[in-house]
Amino acid sequence: MCGIVGFTGSDAALPVLLDGLASLEYRGYDSAGVALQVPGDGLWLRRRSGKLAELTGAVGDAPADATTGIGHTRWATHGRPSERNAHPQTDGSGDLAIVHNGIVENFLELREELEASGHEFRSETDTEVLAHLVADELAEGRSLADAVRSLLHSADGSFAVAVVHADDPGLIVAARRVSPLVAGVADEAAFVASDIPALLPHTREVLVVDDDQVVELRPGSVRITDLDGTELTPELRTITWDVEQAEKGGYEDFMLKEIHEQPAAVRDTLSGRTAPSGELMLDELRLSEDELRAVDKVFLVGCGTSYHAAMVAKYALEHWTRLPCEIDIASEFRYRDPVVDTRTLVVGVSQSGETADTIEAMKYAKRWDARIIAVTNVVDSSMARLADAVLYTHAGPEIGVAATKTHLAQVVALELLALYLAGLRGTRYTSEARDLLAELCEIPSRIETVIGRSDDIHPVAHELVDVRDFFFLGRGVGYPVAMEGALKLKEISYARAEAYPGGEMKHGPIALIEPGTVVVGVATRSHVYAKVLGNISEMRTRGATIVLVANDGDDTAAGLADHVLWVPSTIELFSPAVDTVALQLFAYHLAKERGRDVDKPRNLAKTVTVE
Ligand code: F6R
Repeated sequence: MCGIVGFTGSDAALPVLLDGLASLEYRGYDSAGVALQVPGDGLWLRRRSGKLAELTGAVGDAPADATTGIGHTRWATHGRPSERNAHPQTDGSGDLAIVHNGIVENFLELREELEASGHEFRSETDTEVLAHLVADELAEGRSLADAVRSLLHSADGSFAVAVVHADDPGLIVAARRVSPLVAGVADEAAFVASDIPALLPHTREVLVVDDDQVVELRPGSVRITDLDGTELTPELRTITWDVEQAEKGGYEDFMLKEIHEQPAAVRDTLSGRTAPSGELMLDELRLSEDELRAVDKVFLVGCGTSYHAAMVAKYALEHWTRLPCEIDIASEFRYRDPVVDTRTLVVGVSQSGETADTIEAMKYAKRWDARIIAVTNVVDSSMARLADAVLYTHAGPEIGVAATKTHLAQVVALELLALYLAGLRGTRYTSEARDLLAELCEIPSRIETVIGRSDDIHPVAHELVDVRDFFFLGRGVGYPVAMEGALKLKEISYARAEAYPGGEMKHGPIALIEPGTVVVGVATRSHVYAKVLGNISEMRTRGATIVLVANDGDDTAAGLADHVLWVPSTIELFSPAVDTVALQLFAYHLAKERGRDVDKPRNLAKTVTVE
């Protein structure tokens, strides 16, 4: 996720761009840049690594008479945060600049072709490929709009771009596929941006740009065309939100927005990594296939929600790779003298990549010369630098303190890693990996289905708003789902919620079950489904109110429950990525019913940098 902005008009462009970037900083903030058209003198470009303030402090010499320009605030995906990888990217001519939000899946292939035909690359970004492609089209005599249109034919993946060229004064050409893009028009001005907040100080009339559309902006006009160049009548929307509401995309809170962003987070995490052979593209790989083949034991370490993603992955890793796999809460790992050596693979799981407990666990493993992989959402974070290889979750920045979209992205990234290791070790046949990957690609639409049922989950939360004690039960991969459901409920609603493997209740905790206790069971179909239902019956007999997460049409589960949170079915090992969403929404609605600030729960910090 990154933020892009463009302005063309009769006023100075730079202040408009910088203000726009400030309101888009929530989309990424590891580097920023602008490109301005200087009347009669080409382009002026400035980029800085770090937060937007670094760029703002470095534009004192910008040409004041530039009235057209583009800007970018970055959340790195390809290439670490640095000035050279910041946007705008260029083709090296000094005449063309492009900003980009999204991922070009086939960029390696395109880059090889371009390099073979003599193009020189100066960055590690996928975006630079787009700059060279546009330059090639212009060299063939095409207009800037047609050159940008050609990107929609040659590039795969998700992207929103905006381009300026020195030979087309006053013109910005933008295009979109999947990544968001909005345009606005006012007297003698036109704007384009990744999101509405950047436009609100200037206009409330917003044009929604759809997939595979090209936008030409000139002062006072916006023209939208389709893939074939046919002019379209754009849909105009009047925005009534204030800036804060707009940053939340019209959602009440960042948490709710981020729950809704989960299909995209999962899609982007899978994007470009799901070759039919089961091959995985690790973002930064400093480990050879032989080193990975030599691994004889895996540890997965993380904290809180990341630990729950590790728990899910243990089931997948052991099943697919037949490697022994242990999971550890990171703060416990190094203090228990674990058996780690050069054939051990330690996977640190962390949204932020900065959690002190997990960093220390990874350093411990490094001292024993173990192989280390980081699964993190933040490019160039401490863990990414410490590890031998990195697998990034492309969830975009998460602002709500309670992890949601980063968790699902971790789950699918770890499942991919498990499939990759299984492929390397030869424990899975290619055809089987292909079927699994095909189903993994269906997960975003299954998540969408659950999110679409938020209004059915709300009344359940409403009815249970005053309940004091919740138990969350699951078995198999349903157990980490129960753990995560309980954690979400605790941290944002402050209800007491304990999670247990269903079979463990009879060994003690069942003494706490009485009328009024709520038991939330993860009862989707699995090889332990009958066992789960048996455990739920035991709770029901003792007077508990039963809420079940169950697969669509499961009358048996419904017969045992007072309330059902319905979810679509999928392959058992992938079910956490779907079932968890119902519990996130349950926790969200219950917390809202209790009047809690879900984005900033008491006593919690988004990143915990103390041990
Ligand atoms: C819960 C939550 C925390 C984090 C934990 C680890 O919603 O967000 O439990 O998961 O503090 O943080 P990271 O993943 O940044 O290492």
